[in-house]
Amino acid sequence: MGFWSNLFGGKPKLDHEQQITSPNGRIICTVKLKLGSLTYSVKKDGKIVLRESGLGINLQGEQPLKQGLMIVRIQENRKDEAWQTIVGEQRIIHNKYNEVAFYLNETTENGRIFTVRFRIFDDGVAFRYEIPPQNRFQRLIISDELTEFNVDANSNAWRIPAYQPDRYEYNYEKRPVYALASSVHTPLTIETPLGHYISIHEAALINYGSMTIKLNSLNRLQTDITPLSDGMRAYVDLPFNTPWRVVMIGDSPIELITNRMVLNLNEPPKQDFSWVKPLKFIGIWWAMFVGEWTWAPGERHGATTEHAKEYIDAAKRLNIDGVLMEGWNDGWEGDWLQNGASSNFIKPVADLNLEEVVKYAKDKGISIVGHNETVGFIDNYERQMEDTYKYYNSIGINYIKTGYAGSMMTIQGRKEFHHSQAGVRHYQKSVELAAKYHICLDIHEPIKGTGLERTWPNVLTREGARGQEYEGGALSPSHATIIPFTRLLAGGMDYTSGIFDVTNVAKRLASTLARQLAYYVTIYSGMQMAADRPRFYEEINPAAYEFIRNVPVSWEYTVPLLGKIGEYYVVARRDRNSEDWYIGGVTNEEAHRVRLNLDFLDEETNYTAEIYRDSDTDHYRDHQLGISIETRKITKADYLDIWMAPGGGFAVRITKS
Ligand code: NOJ
Repeated sequence: MGFWSNLFGGKPKLDHEQQITSPNGRIICTVKLKLGSLTYSVKKDGKIVLRESGLGINLQGEQPLKQGLMIVRIQENRKDEAWQTIVGEQRIIHNKYNEVAFYLNETTENGRIFTVRFRIFDDGVAFRYEIPPQNRFQRLIISDELTEFNVDANSNAWRIPAYQPDRYEYNYEKRPVYALASSVHTPLTIETPLGHYISIHEAALINYGSMTIKLNSLNRLQTDITPLSDGMRAYVDLPFNTPWRVVMIGDSPIELITNRMVLNLNEPPKQDFSWVKPLKFIGIWWAMFVGEWTWAPGERHGATTEHAKEYIDAAKRLNIDGVLMEGWNDGWEGDWLQNGASSNFIKPVADLNLEEVVKYAKDKGISIVGHNETVGFIDNYERQMEDTYKYYNSIGINYIKTGYAGSMMTIQGRKEFHHSQAGVRHYQKSVELAAKYHICLDIHEPIKGTGLERTWPNVLTREGARGQEYEGGALSPSHATIIPFTRLLAGGMDYTSGIFDVTNVAKRLASTLARQLAYYVTIYSGMQMAADRPRFYEEINPAAYEFIRNVPVSWEYTVPLLGKIGEYYVVARRDRNSEDWYIGGVTNEEAHRVRLNLDFLDEETNYTAEIYRDSDTDHYRDHQLGISIETRKITKADYLDIWMAPGGGFAVRITKS
């Protein structure tokens, strides 16, 4: 008899099968103990979602935690609560699930113990491993995780490859599951032959390697935890809980959009975050991408005191609350990608007076967004991190865009993947320290979102996919119709929307101008950038800019309207601070006409709709600027018929009239 059995008494089970049902009864997860191994399978409405899938963990220098198991206790629980986000796509989030924890004990003299805890929601299944301190040891080296997600191998998946130099910044490709030759990142969204849309992801990724997914020798999807430089997946002190393994399940792609499991599986905040505020910002930024200015000091240096003040004045006129400055600190001279080991995040360059700029901004009610480009040199950054955040807080900088450019990180002198346990630990350290000094983060080259912004709402957004800075031929219009169903299920993204100079020769975008407005609704981000240079808003197209001026960042709720992954996507969202509604729509390389039902509006109410859409001759390749703007009176009973040009889109603002 092992430890758990002594603790709980009762007769251990060597053979067991148990069904755990979602609160609405439609999803059933069957957990089975047979011949000493634990497996699970999932059905929705009686149709298979996942066939019997294995569970287990490989340990370095120890037998795997996988075989010779008995169940010594089963604990059931249920939850039905609502909680509020400070910033987000949805103010009130419902958290409702049935939970069963299986306490396991090995039958051999090894006698090790662990628990697998399942939570079944109306829109998916989640579980994690919980390992308490053991008789023989208090620490573990995890060499592999053996969790399977046994979907039909004939399903189709939208994949981006893992372990590549550009981290998550790849174009998604649709492939049959059986053809996934190498590991891929999550959220991994899959369309099954039975018509389910599922997305495999993880929640609460703390102190562990990030989960990628590979096909195993049985042709089943299995976890492939990002290794450390020594090949191990994680070094942990006990007790330890793995991140939650999450399978979101919908009957249609748009059902995935409002799946809140990943947030719900994270802990509520443990400190006050009422100081966290969403932010719309412009920046000394795109001018560098199109070659007008430079990050490095010199004749065309962007982040000078003079330019910063000009941008602050422009932000004021544009009704924008923040200004980002990149290239303001020591470390950008020459090839900045090589300077990361010595950049300094407090020392400004000669032609920028940081404190003068911050004071100027403060007097005008504008927040400065600081910029810490670490180039992945974590040792250098962590040496300065606390002093930097403390100093920024003391002078009034409450937002930082962090950056981890480069294909690997340098941590304790070793080259590590951004998504390894070492990387994950660093990102977490930065988030917690930033919270201590009341700093909100926009993390570029980040660890993917796993819902930690429930616990740490100061993570307002992150990059973590191909964004507009990749434009200039590297993005196809279909990308923006895929990420809502893949990357964005992991949380908000800084896509750097609102480029009006779409025809710039140095950085031509595969987009119409109307589509640039759509992104503010289709791509949620707690910090939204109006990424172009202010003159493009003020002098070149002030009428189109009105949409950006008005669109909010944080939403009361979100109503996805239409979507086919890779083809088109339309979503409506209600402002958190008013009764205004916004709709955004994007299409792929093909034109697409939509007819929108306005059911979400109030009964017997007159509204005014400002519609920003493509003109009849628009095309993302050679006729990008013909945006047409019209105002119409509407009610809930009306429909909006809107045509999107190839690579185009539309945006609508609806106010009570
Ligand atoms: C990559 C980031 O994604 C980009 O936004 C930034 O401008 C550069 N690194 C420089 O830090």
